[in-house]
Amino acid sequence: MQPLSRRTALFLGGAGAVATVTGAAGLLWGQGTGAGFQAAGGQELSEPQALCSADGHLQVKLSAAPGRMRVAGRDAKVLSYNGSLPGPTLFLKAGDRVNVTLENRLGDPTNLHVHGLHVSPEGNSDNPLVSVEPGTSFDYEYRLPADHPQGVFWYHPHRHGSVADQIFGGLYGAIIVQDPQPVPVSRERVLIISDISLDGGGSIAAVSAMEKMMGREGNLVLVNGQLNPALAARPGDRERWRIINACTARYLKLRLDGQSLQLLGLDSGRYQEPRDVEEVLLAPGNRADLLVTAAEGAAALRTLPVDRGSMGSMMGGNNGGGQSPPGPDGTALATLTVNGAPAAAPGPVPAQPAPRDLRDVAVTAHRELVFAMGMNSGGPGMGMGGGTGSEMMSFTINGRPFDPARVDTTVTAGAVEEWTLRNTSPMDHPVHLHVWPMQIIEHAGQPVDTPMWQDVVNIPARSSVRVRIAFDDFAGKTVYHCHILDHEDSGMMGLIEAR
Ligand code: C2O
Ligand code: CU
Ligand code: CU
Repeated sequence: MQPLSRRTALFLGGAGAVATVTGAAGLLWGQGTGAGFQAAGGQELSEPQALCSADGHLQVKLSAAPGRMRVAGRDAKVLSYNGSLPGPTLFLKAGDRVNVTLENRLGDPTNLHVHGLHVSPEGNSDNPLVSVEPGTSFDYEYRLPADHPQGVFWYHPHRHGSVADQIFGGLYGAIIVQDPQPVPVSRERVLIISDISLDGGGSIAAVSAMEKMMGREGNLVLVNGQLNPALAARPGDRERWRIINACTARYLKLRLDGQSLQLLGLDSGRYQEPRDVEEVLLAPGNRADLLVTAAEGAAALRTLPVDRGSMGSMMGGNNGGGQSPPGPDGTALATLTVNGAPAAAPGPVPAQPAPRDLRDVAVTAHRELVFAMGMNSGGPGMGMGGGTGSEMMSFTINGRPFDPARVDTTVTAGAVEEWTLRNTSPMDHPVHLHVWPMQIIEHAGQPVDTPMWQDVVNIPARSSVRVRIAFDDFAGKTVYHCHILDHEDSGMMGLIEAR
């Protein structure tokens, strides 16, 4: 057996917990594979505390700490910001200045990343290279440009090597940059979807090497920290749901059958017109801005199984990711009940400006980034049962694992570049770039004919996607990486410098 690292010891908690439950092999606490099976659910959906900027400023303290709370009807020992799962939601506006004091009461270093915000990556702004040591605090300051896009964003730790453990443990929260012109709705909700596995003692379950290789998927899928919460609406209500996929590796294919859904946009990429949709696919890190128009009856918000590839061909066996595939009906995440007197028809959705389109813009550089997984050869302790996952499998971009001392990509501030993101592995990789969103112009050889802006772009197994990026406004160093956070921690990340 591996000696327990300090981090592992933190997660294991009580001594009895060393006999760990690994993987989703046992769906222990109530979240069955069928949409109808919900043991611990039924409470009303709770929303995280809302912290709103005023007069262009927000001052927040986030304290990251382990603690006990009720999760899925159990007494659980998890990680959280300010003692709540998820952390508070930050409501901002373009042009705001945001000061966050991050207090680290964990047993390990951490830091804070504001995922998707278009802010400086330098100094005490959105700098992923900062390390906040246990027992210390760090003061972040983010200045949103006056033309910052509205949208759904989120915050989470980004300390290389422990990102997956810390987010899986419970450290995440939402950031909403509000519309200059609000969409008329009867209700706005923030739905943060995360996953977690608890062991018999209620601590975060240990994760096997194989699960890390695949990207761990927790056996509980939570909405705002709750198992299958209940939502209520009246017929005709139009609600705005901002949905964040905060899962460590799980892809979400969301459906809400019987209700009418319109997608306003993904990530910070707002569409000019709302699009009617039946389902929404969110890779880890993606967000949806969704209108739900309620129709009488009860509807389950479900996530359907997503095939994100497997290690089968590399490992010479079954995919062995420790995931138990849900049934064809997927997993119920929340239940919406619609009844009562019909609501008055809402006003029209305000028109949006046409999104920016880089397809006609002169490109100053073309690059290719190759995302690869390979077997490491030889060495002691590299068997299936032994290593950490990263020891037996390499995760690389252009042949190299992450090195914080090496700049992989240098771009000219202000330039527009075209990147081919190529995946040579048998698994999908959701690729994320900090600070600057990406316009998807070609997906698996097919041109994309409307402007699609995302900051996490899924690259299917053995396929490629072309994107264009405008490196506007900021200079400095930041990162791009796979948002399957076990892959990121294992090295599938690169350093970029704009100057
Ligand atoms: Cu949401 Cu670099 O991450
Ligand atoms: Cu990010
Ligand atoms: Cu990956």
